[in-house]
Amino acid sequence: MLILGIETSCDETSVALVEDGKKILVNLVATQIDLHRQFGGVVPEVASRAHLRVLAPLVREALERTGAEKESVSAIAYTIGPGLIGSLLVGVSLAKALAYSWSVPAIGVNHLKAHLYAPILAGEEFEFPLVGLIVSGGHTLLVSARSWDEAEIVGSTRDDAAGEAFDKVAALLGLGFPGGPAVDRAAREGDSERFDLPRGMIRSGDLDFSFSGVKTAVRYLVERLKADGEEIPAADIAAGFQRAAVDVLVAKLTAAAGAVSPRTVVIGGGVAGNSELRRRVSEAPELSSARVLIAPLALCSDNAAMIAGLAGRQLERGGELTTGLAADDDPNLPWTPALL
Ligand code: KG4
Ligand code: ZN
Repeated sequence: MLILGIETSCDETSVALVEDGKKILVNLVATQIDLHRQFGGVVPEVASRAHLRVLAPLVREALERTGAEKESVSAIAYTIGPGLIGSLLVGVSLAKALAYSWSVPAIGVNHLKAHLYAPILAGEEFEFPLVGLIVSGGHTLLVSARSWDEAEIVGSTRDDAAGEAFDKVAALLGLGFPGGPAVDRAAREGDSERFDLPRGMIRSGDLDFSFSGVKTAVRYLVERLKADGEEIPAADIAAGFQRAAVDVLVAKLTAAAGAVSPRTVVIGGGVAGNSELRRRVSEAPELSSARVLIAPLALCSDNAAMIAGLAGRQLERGGELTTGLAADDDPNLPWTPALL
């Protein structure tokens, strides 16, 4: 079963063709990074216009590259939320138009659930119980699942998302946009012990996160160094910040795992591309009895293959899926207690 996936929730326009929820035939990603760089962050209005320009040609390119006929497409899967309202709208509109004209179902997919699904596209499979960590630019969530149909959120951020903190710290350090990969790169050259930065809520006794404290600590540190006329040691601060952020992510993930002894631990979202996070979770003794799944880098950041993949698995499992031609995008799409 061939599914066409469309992803336009933020600043990547992506179209993919995925077979049977697993096999990627093509996964095209047109990034808007160069457009937003001059503003130091994603400008929603600019993002939606860029999606509009690029999306339809990308659908054509995906079909041409694979030689797939539109008649062989069984459904159109699209990101229905969460995300930027105008950006989502572009994908939702084209998905519904295609579904209508090709007489196939349109399936609205939760972007965050798709991030967790990504390792399956790399040949992995979930065994339950499962603990998932979603770390992206807009979300930091811990999920505990007893089965595909029983997945609850057990922890989330009280303020900034992990990726947002990376982006803001990168801006404070003048490392550019997008911030996460820039901090990751700079941290490799830095001394993570030089500055002791706060690990927000690390001993809170629950599974929630807070990243605004460490971000503010970096801001004060930079302001103090500037006031003293010192040069900003960006690599050392980046390394100290990254160590603090990863310490918290790993602490909460291992605490969640400790509570349920999962057979699978999954980490998804853009921050799952962070080299220190990837290394630390693979070495964490508390997670050694679980299979730890993190998708390859290209599937951690926003892409349509994860959207088409998740929809394919949904179709395979049956149930009511078609989102309907009157469906609206939902920038704050709530979590429903299932992984699909
Ligand atoms: O999942 P994603 O591509 O888009 C959203 O759904 O938000 O995540 C983007 C976020 C950005 O904040 C970006 O800076 C962060 O993921 N990110 C990273 C790394 N690569 C991307 N953060 C830390 N280290 C990285 N290597
Ligand atoms: Zn994302």
